[in-house]
Amino acid sequence: MLLAIETSCDDTCAAVLDGPRILSNVISSQAKAHEGFGGVVPEVAARHHLELATPVVEAALAEAGMTLDDVEAVAATAGPGLIGALLVGISTAKGIAAARRLPLIPVDHLQGHVAANFLEPEPLEPPFLCLIASGGHTLLAGVRDHEGFELLGQTLDDAAGEAFDKSARLLGLGYPGGPAIQREAEGGDPEAFEMPVAMSRNPGLDFSFSGLKTAVLYRCRELGPEGVEERKADVAASFQAAVVGQLTAKLKRALKVGEWDAVALGGGVAANGPLREAVGKLCEEMGVQLKLVPISLCTDNAAMIGSAARYAKPIPYPDYLGYDAFASGESATPAVAH
Ligand code: KG4
Ligand code: ZN
Repeated sequence: MLLAIETSCDDTCAAVLDGPRILSNVISSQAKAHEGFGGVVPEVAARHHLELATPVVEAALAEAGMTLDDVEAVAATAGPGLIGALLVGISTAKGIAAARRLPLIPVDHLQGHVAANFLEPEPLEPPFLCLIASGGHTLLAGVRDHEGFELLGQTLDDAAGEAFDKSARLLGLGYPGGPAIQREAEGGDPEAFEMPVAMSRNPGLDFSFSGLKTAVLYRCRELGPEGVEERKADVAASFQAAVVGQLTAKLKRALKVGEWDAVALGGGVAANGPLREAVGKLCEEMGVQLKLVPISLCTDNAAMIGSAARYAKPIPYPDYLGYDAFASGESATPAVAH
């Protein structure tokens, strides 16, 4: 049995897995704690993880009907993410593992989003193209095996989820912005406001979302506070359509270049209804398989970390006692190798 812990951002997560089978997947969201700030406050996140880590691990074990005696290895997200938040998760994992002389498996968070697709039921086998869009990342991953992925394109500025969160704040819609904008957009006209078509002439597979956020800012200024109240749904719908348009346009380009037979979506933005619909249509058009994991496996969770851990290298006790989390710029995989 594998115990996995994920604390890279504002969700405290623990899961118990038996191979590719999820026995429990507990997520304690801190969204309420960050709501008033319109985004995640790193220090607040780390403090909450500290309070929640033990009860969340206990809940995951209880839900799986297991005790620590059943755990054979402990996995945790090593990065990238908020360093204070990551340190709480990795230290908790080290503590549990060291007390029982178990191996520790550090996992790359992005590889976790990819590995959500390897879980039962109906695991997706590589090769496939994976679009990961979350609050911290937006990238296209070429997945050819279970161990890693090739970075085909990524955002040059804001992540897609970050653009949702910042635009929601401008519209007074609260945090997290993605679900709030999706709800608001339901009553709006996606063609009401023209939004910049970012990166359309860029031949590569990179993304850009900061121009969209700025466009929302300008529309809000032009409309004034009363106008924003009146046209909120239209601005939200126009913004959302532009994000979905860019993500699907790049996915289409990648499909043409790479001759992939299957597409998967990951990251919090993959919970977006109109995006799921648009990608569904695209895959049908292009004759490729679409794999959509449940929304609870798109947003941050520990089951995906446990799934990636199955293909990562365990560090035996006590070699991991000095192992550190990383905020960005490296991957958990090479760090394990030396
Ligand atoms: O993967 P995730 O849970 O955490 C990160 O690793 O960032 O993604 C969170 C992001 C937030 O920016 C949130 O606004 C966005 O995913 N999100 C959505 C939706 N649900 C969550 N964006 C658009 N539509 C949604 N329904
Ligand atoms: Zn994530």
